[in-house]
Amino acid sequence: MSTTAITGISELVTNDATHPDGDGSPLGLIPDASVVVADGRIEWVGRREELTATDDRRDLGGRAVIPCFVDSHSHLVFAGDRSAEFAARMTGEPYDGGGIAVSMKATRAATDDELRALVARRVEEMHAQGTGVVEIKSGYGLDAHNEARALRIAREFTDETTFLGAHVVPPEFRDSYTGRNDYVELVCGDMLAACAPYARWIDVFCEPNSAFAFTGEESERVLRAGAAAGLELRVHGNQLGHGPGAQLAVALDAASVDHCTYLSDDDVDALAGSSTVATLLPGVEFSTKSPYPDARRLIDAGVSLALASDCNPGTCYSSSIPFAIAVAVRDMGMTPAEALHAATAGAAKSLRRNDIGVIRAGARAELTTLDAPSYLHLAYRPGVPIASALRFP
Ligand code: NIG
Ligand code: FE
Repeated sequence: MSTTAITGISELVTNDATHPDGDGSPLGLIPDASVVVADGRIEWVGRREELTATDDRRDLGGRAVIPCFVDSHSHLVFAGDRSAEFAARMTGEPYDGGGIAVSMKATRAATDDELRALVARRVEEMHAQGTGVVEIKSGYGLDAHNEARALRIAREFTDETTFLGAHVVPPEFRDSYTGRNDYVELVCGDMLAACAPYARWIDVFCEPNSAFAFTGEESERVLRAGAAAGLELRVHGNQLGHGPGAQLAVALDAASVDHCTYLSDDDVDALAGSSTVATLLPGVEFSTKSPYPDARRLIDAGVSLALASDCNPGTCYSSSIPFAIAVAVRDMGMTPAEALHAATAGAAKSLRRNDIGVIRAGARAELTTLDAPSYLHLAYRPGVPIASALRFP
C-alpha cells in the first residue's frame, strides 16, 4: 500500500473540531498543513513540519484544501430542455411543478445510453467544481420501468440513489377521479418493488401547494411503504408554501427535509429537537425568483443544516456548490464558515455518513482543492471556478 503526502496546503479545513492542531472551531482549521492518503483513505492529518516519510508527495504550492462538497440533493437523470420555462419565470411566471411532465416525456423517450451519457457529463461537471459525493434521485420516469431504469443508471455513478416515484402524479393518472389514489398505490406497490433493489433512499414531493405533488397523508403512505421495503427516508417539503413536509419528516425520523423555504415556528422547533437535517437549496430560489429560506433563524434555533444544489431541469439547472455557498452567504444570513460546513459535514450528516465531509484519519480521501489561499474565497469570488475535486491515481 503506497502512501502519498499532500503538501503545500496554505489552509486545511478538516471539519474536525477536536484535532489538536486545529483552531477549535467547527471547521477545525490548520494552517500550513499536510494530509497523508493511502488506498483511498486518509492516514494522517497535521502540520507540515510533523510530516514523516511517505512514498509520494504532491505539492499544491499554497492552496486551501477542504473536505469534498457532498451534494446531497440532485435529479441528474433527465433528458430534454426546459430553458424556456426558466426564461418565462424571470419575467414573472410562477413555478408550480407542472414542467416535470415535460422532462418525464423526454426522459422516457431517451435510450439507456443517452441517459447514461447525460448523467456522466453532469457528474463530471460536479467533480470539476469540487463535489466528491453526489446523491441522485429518480423522478422523471414516473412508471415502474422508467423509474427502475433511472435508478439502475444512477447506481453506476453513486451509492446514494433515491427513489422519487412520488415526484408528481403523471398526466396519465390525472384525468380520472381515482387517478391520484391509483398512482400512490402504484408507487407504494409495483413501482417500489421494481426500484428498491437500486435505491438506498425514498423521497416524496410533499407539497399541498402544487396540484401535481402530494398531500401530507399521501406522502406518509409513500414513506411508510418505502421504510417497510428497507429504504431510508428523505422529504421534499415546504418549498412552495407552508405545509406538513417538515413535521412529517421529523415524525418519521427522515434523514433530511429539503427546501424548507416556508417554515412556521412549530416547524423550526420540531426540526431543532430532531435528528432530521434541514437541507437548503439556494439555487432553487435563485432560479424560481422565490424568497430565500432564513438560514440564520434555523441556525440560531439549533437546527442542523445542509446546503446542496438540487441540480434539475426545472427549478435549478446548476450543479455548482460554490454558487450555492455564495448565495447562502450573500442572502441567507450564513457566515462563510457556516455555509462551507453545511455543504460538507452538514450534507454528509443528511446522508447519515461519517466517512465523508471530514478530513480525519480513517475517513475517505475525498478532498477538494481551492485555487485560493483560504476557504473564504468560495463566497468572495462568486462565479470563478476555484474549486476542484482532488483525484488520486
Ligand atoms: O426539487 N420540487 C420538486 N422537484 C424538483 C423540481 C423538479 C422539476 O421542476 O423538474 C425540485 O425543485
Ligand atoms: Fe429536488
